[in-house]
Amino acid sequence: MKFFTSKHLSFKLIALLIFSSIINAAAQESARYPLIPYPAKLIAGKGAFIITSKTNIVTAPQFKGEADELNDLLSKGFGKKLSITKNAQPHAIKLVYAAALTAPEAYRLTVTAQRVIIGAKDPAGVFHAIETIRQLLPVSVEEGTANKQLSLPAVAIEDHPAYEWRGMHLDVSRHFFSINYLEKFIDRMALYKMNKLHLHLTDDQGWRIEIKKYPKLTEEGAWRTFNNQDSACMKRAVDNPDFNIDKEHIIQRDGKTLYGGFYTQEEMKGVIAYAAARHIDIIPEIDMPGHMMAAINAYPFLTCNDENKFGTLFSKPICPCNENTFEFAENVFNEIMEIFPSKYIHIGGDEVDRSDWAKSDACKALMQKEGIKDLPALQSYFINRMEKFFNSKGRKMIGWDEIIEGGVTKTAIIMYWRTWVPDAPVKAAKNGNTVIMTPGEPLYFDAQPDQYSVYKVYHFNPIPKALNKQEAKTIIGAQANIWTEMIPSEKRADYMYMPRMTALAEMLWTNDQNKYDSYTKRLVQQYNRMDALKINYRLPDLPGLLNEYVFTGEGKLSIARPLPNLSIRYTTDGLPPTTTSPELPSPLTISKSELVKVAAFTPAGIRGDIYSLNYTQQQMLGPVKIAPPKPGLACSYYKAYFKETALMRNAKVDSTFITDKIEVPSTVKAPSFGINYKGYIDVPADGIYSFYLTCDDGGVLRIGNNITVNNDGNHSAQERSGQIALKMGAHPFALDFIEGGGGFKLLLKYSVNGSEPKEIPVGWLKH
Ligand code: ACM
Repeated sequence: MKFFTSKHLSFKLIALLIFSSIINAAAQESARYPLIPYPAKLIAGKGAFIITSKTNIVTAPQFKGEADELNDLLSKGFGKKLSITKNAQPHAIKLVYAAALTAPEAYRLTVTAQRVIIGAKDPAGVFHAIETIRQLLPVSVEEGTANKQLSLPAVAIEDHPAYEWRGMHLDVSRHFFSINYLEKFIDRMALYKMNKLHLHLTDDQGWRIEIKKYPKLTEEGAWRTFNNQDSACMKRAVDNPDFNIDKEHIIQRDGKTLYGGFYTQEEMKGVIAYAAARHIDIIPEIDMPGHMMAAINAYPFLTCNDENKFGTLFSKPICPCNENTFEFAENVFNEIMEIFPSKYIHIGGDEVDRSDWAKSDACKALMQKEGIKDLPALQSYFINRMEKFFNSKGRKMIGWDEIIEGGVTKTAIIMYWRTWVPDAPVKAAKNGNTVIMTPGEPLYFDAQPDQYSVYKVYHFNPIPKALNKQEAKTIIGAQANIWTEMIPSEKRADYMYMPRMTALAEMLWTNDQNKYDSYTKRLVQQYNRMDALKINYRLPDLPGLLNEYVFTGEGKLSIARPLPNLSIRYTTDGLPPTTTSPELPSPLTISKSELVKVAAFTPAGIRGDIYSLNYTQQQMLGPVKIAPPKPGLACSYYKAYFKETALMRNAKVDSTFITDKIEVPSTVKAPSFGINYKGYIDVPADGIYSFYLTCDDGGVLRIGNNITVNNDGNHSAQERSGQIALKMGAHPFALDFIEGGGGFKLLLKYSVNGSEPKEIPVGWLKH
């Protein structure tokens, strides 16, 4: 029997075999080395180094602290410490000074059956190697189980980070987090090789760090009666207990229930030391001149006019026109600099309602005396003076990107956050400022995560396209921010940043988007470690679900489990699924219109997101007769701002056009606008058609005069989906789309009878 009929076929087969063996090797590699972030270079080895309680740690003197860290990690696995020595030992883990590894934070890790060698020039490099070892060890090492031995797979790694700033931010003002939680947070950052923790210590809602010269900042400013954010959280706690406010931060004082807390200087020094041992720098932010209500309540002299209230958008700031303000600010920062050794100090500088400055005689006089032309320049006067003060103490100032508005020095470091001002980091970089990227989309981790958020973080490029190679060097990295207005508990915080932080960590360290598929596989293994660490991470999404379903005879629902150890449970009574709800059969048969709620659960009972699947029984919609159809949709363009699509109906049409594709014409330049696409969709066969509408801002799709997908309102890019049962032929089609400002996205895909979503064929759209 002849297997190969031609040379060509055998070549193809060999190529296929080679290709599939590469894919296999890659899959085996992510299973054996489930590292996040993935190293710059990894060569798989055979066999393993077996660590027992007799294994020695041999260290160069400069890495003694890191040897202790390694010992702490291993002793958790054995229940006892290993011995650390300077002298060569046969079966040892060696920490070696390697002068040639000059890249910051670089390390080399060689594991063979005989020995483990960590080489680095920099103690941070050794520490990162230890975290790599941690991720290669079984998860039992996290659980404090008494192991007899731990197996470390053989490997050769050479590694260093792509970016210098790999940051996380935590707002401890809107809701307060304990020292214990800060240490957990630091430990998780260290596990994924993040190196900067930015603490937002003060805001309108609470002052969280002891300042000895101004005791009322914490005596009064650290406590509040429940505010509107607390009550919004309490409302959500009815369905999700993670929104319950952590009880340890609620006290009774003078017959009042108060929420809050603060860190004493000694406590904070302890946290800083804990972070420093893990090579994480803590950057304090004292937000000025806005976001200062907590301080102003305690020290009203800080304002221009003794008033302390909210302006139109933001709270009223402190007054940059009184010397008393500078004295206060310098005294506060003097103490901050004594507590925090970081070379960076964050002054905030965002969201300032400057209107009271314009009314102040002191400001009028100062502006005249100093030749300050307008209010943004007055803010720059404050910021630039504070920067000089920081610099005189050997520190560098960071500010949110608003600080460039009134003119900024070249030495200030700009933290970019306003996604809707895309040229801010470009201007700053071209001005020569160092820039840290924290754009709201996708790096505000207080934004509700969804099935796209991990992907978006992984694929975020910190370098704006408009920068050349030289200018790009001013971008030193990126950071995710966690604003906690709606994050009142540690569990909710865990859910918001995990697993997104792992995607950020790999983007900033490995910086290789081709590794996304392997990252998702490695992440599946990381969930086991997160379970062992009791991290309340967001469970992976249930795949392929829509928001609205229709069926004609019977509906069938089956859902693949995204992780093997998850169970999927459901309800049909409108209540959220719990661990006692029935498991979803495969499939669940649906015979009447009803709401099915589903959620995944871990064996420990952690619940994933609840999906509300609305099933509607429908007749197949018959086609309409249309006069000889013309290709494309007839569109009306409205150059105005709309909060929701229905408001377009009463507006004046600006222009009209025909298009055979659902997209915004390149001629549209207005920041805010609306477009109505109208005509028919001519489908080639009977079927249940699904539509997926991604909009930034809002959109509503109607087919056959029914709302098929409702994705209305002003919001960032999000997908909503729905179905309709259509008979072959033409059906009325209308899509309303609105953009409020700050960049848009519009994408419509379809699938039929469960096929892969794709773009609507050009020939289907008519008018
Ligand atoms: C910010 O989100 N206001 C920096």
